[in-house]
Amino acid sequence: MKILTVIGARPQFIKAIALSHAVARANGVQEVLLHTGQHYDDNMSAVFFRDLRLAEPKYRFDLGGGRHGDMTGRQLIAIEEALIAEKPDVCLVYGDTNSTLAGSLAAAKLHVPVAHVEAGLRSFNRRMPEEINRVVSDHLATWLFAPTETAVHNLASEGIGGDKVHMVGDVMYDVSRLIIDNPGRRTDIAKGLGLSDKGYAVATIHRQENTDDPDRLLAILEALAELSAQMNVVLPLHPRTRKTIAGDSEAGKALERLMTIDPVGFFDMATLLAGAKLAVTDSGGLQKEAFFHGVPCVTVRDETEWVELVEHGWNRLPASITSGAISEAIDAALASGGGKQAMPYGDGHAAEAILKVLSA
Ligand code: UD1
Repeated sequence: MKILTVIGARPQFIKAIALSHAVARANGVQEVLLHTGQHYDDNMSAVFFRDLRLAEPKYRFDLGGGRHGDMTGRQLIAIEEALIAEKPDVCLVYGDTNSTLAGSLAAAKLHVPVAHVEAGLRSFNRRMPEEINRVVSDHLATWLFAPTETAVHNLASEGIGGDKVHMVGDVMYDVSRLIIDNPGRRTDIAKGLGLSDKGYAVATIHRQENTDDPDRLLAILEALAELSAQMNVVLPLHPRTRKTIAGDSEAGKALERLMTIDPVGFFDMATLLAGAKLAVTDSGGLQKEAFFHGVPCVTVRDETEWVELVEHGWNRLPASITSGAISEAIDAALASGGGKQAMPYGDGHAAEAILKVLSA
């Protein structure tokens, strides 16, 4: 069996390592990696290939930047050509980025069956580009690998069910176990920054809905600046957010009170997270990684696809994206110290389960 895997953005490099490891252990399975180049900076892309020892992609394009239609269109053309040349049995896509959408669309039109990993997640907010990408990819896929029971229900309510849907758990949990099970792989990043264990917060902000709305971005930064009066707040700054803040002096002033660093690799981020007292983020991945490391989290969005964490008390959504409401959620999360012990994301062997289904 030949799998052509499409990756392009930071979280996909991380997710891909779990399946690539499983493929390396399996007989008769070949994986061809295609990197669209949606993320291209060294610290948004290459560092993950080095850290996680992900193989060099056979196809590497330079198709990042630009508006959504422009970027997705260029990716569609390139992926179609690779699919025609490779004739894979499966085109595998992860998550909800523009690279995911381009991969599923190119493959479906060529009658190459699509496997969608992280299927069935919904924010029910169609203003998010990610929601459009995941809905379309789910409806085009032949195999839908759901990370949670909630995702299975979401698919059923859109008329997708039966043999196509497989609840396999979350590949991010597979990957997080690389460091949870091997604490020796923690790096010295926190020490280098002078941070004491459980004495700081870690934050990330990159979603278009936050970065492209100056009021929301300022509210988040002001709440983080307020938190910095109590503890250090480390913010590895995404290039999208850096670009937006560059032209906004008020946001820039709030930013000065935080410990801003460049984006970091997988093991550095996992180390920062594991040692943190609190995570504040708009990232889907970080919400769960915080939980895997036993760290409470505030998600600065109006809704989340990972509703289990809110139900179990590990994650909090502010009542609104204003600095007051975010600070309230932060105080509540710090006071709670965590949530219910439960594991809604499978057993840490999602990649093997996916490969088993595809090989059947
Ligand atoms: C994308 C995904 C999002 C995912 C996130 C992870 C879409 C619609 N969004 O959002 O779902 O959670 O990646 O990070 O696909 N840029 C650089 N250097 C880079 C990468 C990006 O400067 O290495 C710039 C781009 O040129 C662009 C901006 O950052 O101006 C945003 O990049 P883009 O890939 O459009 O979206 P993300 O916000 O990263």
